Amino acid sequence: DWSMAGFVDQQIKEIREKVGDKKVLLGLSGGVDSSVVGVLLQRAIGDQLTSIFVDHGLLRKGEAEQVMNDLGGKFGLNIIKVDCKDRFMDKLSGIADPEKKRKIIGNEFIEVFDDEASKLDGVDFLAQGTLYTDVIESGTDTAQTIKSHHNVGGLPEDMQFELIEPLNKLFKDEVRELGEVLGMPHDLVWRQPFPGPGLAIRIMGEITEPRLEKVRDSDLILREEIAKAGLNEKIWQYFTVDTGVSSVGVTGDFRSYDTVIAIRAITSIDGMTADFAEIDWQVLSEVSRRITNEVKGVNRVVYDITAKPPATVEWE
Ligand code: XMP
Repeated sequence: DWSMAGFVDQQIKEIREKVGDKKVLLGLSGGVDSSVVGVLLQRAIGDQLTSIFVDHGLLRKGEAEQVMNDLGGKFGLNIIKVDCKDRFMDKLSGIADPEKKRKIIGNEFIEVFDDEASKLDGVDFLAQGTLYTDVIESGTDTAQTIKSHHNVGGLPEDMQFELIEPLNKLFKDEVRELGEVLGMPHDLVWRQPFPGPGLAIRIMGEITEPRLEKVRDSDLILREEIAKAGLNEKIWQYFTVDTGVSSVGVTGDFRSYDTVIAIRAITSIDGMTADFAEIDWQVLSEVSRRITNEVKGVNRVVYDITAKPPATVEWE
């Protein structure tokens, strides 16, 4: 009979047979799926695995450090961390259109990944965190499909990899269970979904450093208060948005004209449809109080009470 521990043993055996003494490349995003693939492969083939982690500067506060500490430190993955915040910010400067922003980030991401991959010698395999649901959605043979929703979108034609997709028979909750069986930290395994374009699509319009900071700092406050209220595994996804709207307020004895931050928190099964989460007013009130007190340039906080559809989860 089937058990996750048995699945691990069988996967390790299969991966070893397939890879032999060759090398494998993995794009680490910091998300659950690629992290679990990384830890599983590390256990199967050790240093024959090289991971590339592109830090585009659009991650949440402390996220890059957590990936490096948990996966690089605790689990000993060999991670090439590429810091390319400036490169992304240059390309995004002056760009306000949501689709343009997404395209720029996607293209830039692939370029950075390809640059790094082409520096490595003799890599034959590319590992991906493709899930069963991705296989169904794409509707084609997995060996041919590079997960398009994800970040590793395309590779140069002269680079030929064979794919390794150890999660392609699993659902999300099974991937989490697998992560737990592999001894991964609970908060890494239960991490909420985070989009590839990162905080870029939570800043309406042009991305600037101060706006990134507002979203990053308010997001951290929201995460802290949600955790304090014991809601972090009850709410599917929660984050803050820089609405790009300014409103009038009173800060101390003075009139202010500052940013409106929105809170988005949803319950969902799969992200395809969603309802706004019915969070206690006391919790929201504390989040609002803290954001307006602690985040410079914010004088108003609103709660998004829209379902998907008609709204999407993300604001852009
Ligand atoms: P939407 O905004 O489309 O989001 O209702 C549904 C779910 O998908 C996530 N999302 C993305 N994930 N790359 C990703 O890997 C993306 O470009 C992307 N856009 C949205 C979103 O966070 C939510 O969980």
